[in-house]
Amino acid sequence: MDCEKLLTDRLAPAFAAVAGGPVDPVVRRSQRADFQSDAALALARRLGRPPREIAAAVLDRAELGDLCAVAEVSGPGFVNLTISDAALARMVTALAGDPRLGVPAVAGPETVVVDYSAPNVAKEMHVGHLRSTVIGDAVARLLAWRGHRVVRANHLGDWGTPFGMLIEHLVDLGEAEAAEELSMGDLDSFYRAARAKFDADEGFRDRSRRRVVALQGGDATTLRLWRLLVQQSERYFLTVYDLLDVTLTARDFRGESSYHQLLAPVVDELDRLGLLRESAGAACVFPPGSVGRDGAPLPLIVRKSDGGYGYPATDLAALRQRTGELGATRLVYVVGLPQRRHFEMVFGVARQAGWLAPPARAEHVGFGSILGADGRMLRSRAGGSVKLVALLAEAVSRATALTRERNPELDAAEAAEVGRAVGIGAVKYADLASDRHRDHVLDWERMLSLDGNTAPYLQYAYSRIRSIFRRAGAAARPEAPVPLAEPAERALAFELVGFATVVAEVERTLEFHHLAGYLHRLATSFNAFYERCPVLRAEQPVRDGRLLLAELTGRVLRQGLDLLGIRTPERM
Ligand code: ARG
Repeated sequence: MDCEKLLTDRLAPAFAAVAGGPVDPVVRRSQRADFQSDAALALARRLGRPPREIAAAVLDRAELGDLCAVAEVSGPGFVNLTISDAALARMVTALAGDPRLGVPAVAGPETVVVDYSAPNVAKEMHVGHLRSTVIGDAVARLLAWRGHRVVRANHLGDWGTPFGMLIEHLVDLGEAEAAEELSMGDLDSFYRAARAKFDADEGFRDRSRRRVVALQGGDATTLRLWRLLVQQSERYFLTVYDLLDVTLTARDFRGESSYHQLLAPVVDELDRLGLLRESAGAACVFPPGSVGRDGAPLPLIVRKSDGGYGYPATDLAALRQRTGELGATRLVYVVGLPQRRHFEMVFGVARQAGWLAPPARAEHVGFGSILGADGRMLRSRAGGSVKLVALLAEAVSRATALTRERNPELDAAEAAEVGRAVGIGAVKYADLASDRHRDHVLDWERMLSLDGNTAPYLQYAYSRIRSIFRRAGAAARPEAPVPLAEPAERALAFELVGFATVVAEVERTLEFHHLAGYLHRLATSFNAFYERCPVLRAEQPVRDGRLLLAELTGRVLRQGLDLLGIRTPERM
């Protein structure tokens, strides 16, 4: 456990006793001591007593003897706290002996469904799918590491009216030709060609409409052609996942089509529950609290006026299966912010219907867009939307060139391997290190820089640590005495013991920029330590102790980056 949390736990009861009710001690890192608590100041106003008197009363009651070397009132009423070397050393040693680095597995694992990636069949993945895939995979990795049962749900867009025209286009091209085009990842031109015919040709439109009916009616030939489209697209998406180093597999596709049989029963049940209202021929539910700009209630359309079911009904059916059949109690939807209203309404209807009742809860983990360096929507040179694979290929080739330049002695295979880890890592990290609610700017120079809050900076710190151990020729001794005489050693130790708190926070908020920011602070503290404190040249027992600090830093960096889905090469 980190020091802020420990001190908070010790100070809170003392504050409560003095105030006669709960008070947050507001513990933070301090310039004057290791930590300080400022809560006495605000409390003084409330109680009408001098703040220094309150601070002193709190210190009288708080049990800090085993933790603090100094605990004193300072200035107008701050409480200054200096952790004793013995206590800090105990925490570091405990961390060194713990394979989970202070982050316990949860006592009560939950079944969690993480809905992410979700590209559409016969359509190129775009940068929005990139963000969903990268953030969603980090969510899945983190929750799985904590010991939850994680179901990765890749809600593939594989059903609906566009499949009429897509299948007809496939028939026109011939199956072999179509399969070839799709397996090359040329999804967009396939889609655009189908669309162009649909817009221009009345006969093609008719065929397409009949095809949709045949598909929904379960016609065998149509289903076979549909499956061909889906399989080729899935195969292509899997190559992207592989390149991206995400944990999604072929088993995680849970396409919209898999809920197709459940749509009518879901709407029937909404009807039985008395929740359906008719509006312009469509069957709608008006979830409480959903109102438009003009204040009028907003409908969620669960059956269209032509009798078809769409995106909202599919999400309701999926949700009901996830809480019902799968027994999930936490549902996470990693989808762009423009769909926020959609999810609010789906969750609202599910609550009304009793499909989303405590302890089960659902969260929309929304995110902004990716912008080009000019601050506008990312566009290819030709002006179209940027193909995800092209973007990833560019990242890898830039990173490989940089690796070669910095490290001419690496052989070609190793340079390629490192270039891939760095390039892909840089793209993922740039996404995860920025507040997901905001748009994030794709800036190659910044993202691949060895300085700043970037993947290469963290990967480089890791590889430096590994090089220390290659030179040392041995691992650190976990029971080595922890050296804390130097300020840089203390600062590094405080960062190390803070890992668990950050993980707990991210598990709750699913805001990975807190983890990224922590890893960046840790690497920065390590670099400052390494500059000021010689490791291999130090006298014993300091040498062993510094090796221990270095090794722990390496382990935390590696674990932290692994939670973000980013590799840590041994050398760079
Ligand atoms: N396929 C959709 C799209 O590309 C995203 C689906 C998100 N997941 C969900 N359960 N609705 O926009």
